[in-house]
Amino acid sequence: MISDTYTFKILRYDAKEPEKEPYFASYKIKVIPGLTVLAMLLRIRDEIDGTLSFRSSCRSAICGSCAMVINGKIDLACRTQVAIFETDTIILEPLPNFEVIKDLVVDMTPFWQMYEKIQPYLIRKSSEPEKEIHQSQKDRKKIDQFVNCILCACCYGACPVLNRDGNYAGPAAMAKLQRFSLDSRDERSAESLEAFNSEDGVWGCDTVFRCIEACPKDVRPTDGIVGLRKTLLKNKAKEIWRAVKK
Ligand code: FES
Repeated sequence: MISDTYTFKILRYDAKEPEKEPYFASYKIKVIPGLTVLAMLLRIRDEIDGTLSFRSSCRSAICGSCAMVINGKIDLACRTQVAIFETDTIILEPLPNFEVIKDLVVDMTPFWQMYEKIQPYLIRKSSEPEKEIHQSQKDRKKIDQFVNCILCACCYGACPVLNRDGNYAGPAAMAKLQRFSLDSRDERSAESLEAFNSEDGVWGCDTVFRCIEACPKDVRPTDGIVGLRKTLLKNKAKEIWRAVKK
């Protein structure tokens, strides 16, 4: 540890007071080894400045609510220990690619709208099963990494495409679309994927893997996007083949 007193520089802004420019507020606070950035934020809010805003809930890297930029890197505040940095200054900024509501709280509406669009649930065409539908371990393995996504939006904040095009569906939504379309219990039609067969969907990705670098749960959204591209191309090839055979 550098010293036991750290300076937290936190980007402050309130969308209700747009006339005030964003600014960095500094807070000096003693850090006990082992404490996380989130633990320090809670102490700053509780002991120094009750007006500071940020999101948190589980404190265990499960709920996905505490994503932010920590010393230039997107991560979850609750899984980032203060002592890992080779400096006693911690700079905190809100997730990029979102409108800021207040301080470290961003407006997640576009993220959830994209997520809703992919219909993130099992779609069945067969009659309702009378008991649970079993899934083999082999089939579960195909979706493992995408199930692990906690929807924290770290990937969304890191995505260079979203930085220039807010219409792009984004890595998390595409990874979850692949999660459901690969699920052995899901019966969504090939046509339902067509809605994402565009530059705003699977073809928008630059494949520069920033989402993979940013994911705190080792999900690889780009794998999902590439998988969806392959499925769409296969579907197209089948369609052409059927037309030729007629
Ligand atoms: Fe839940 Fe950090 S508080 S992921």
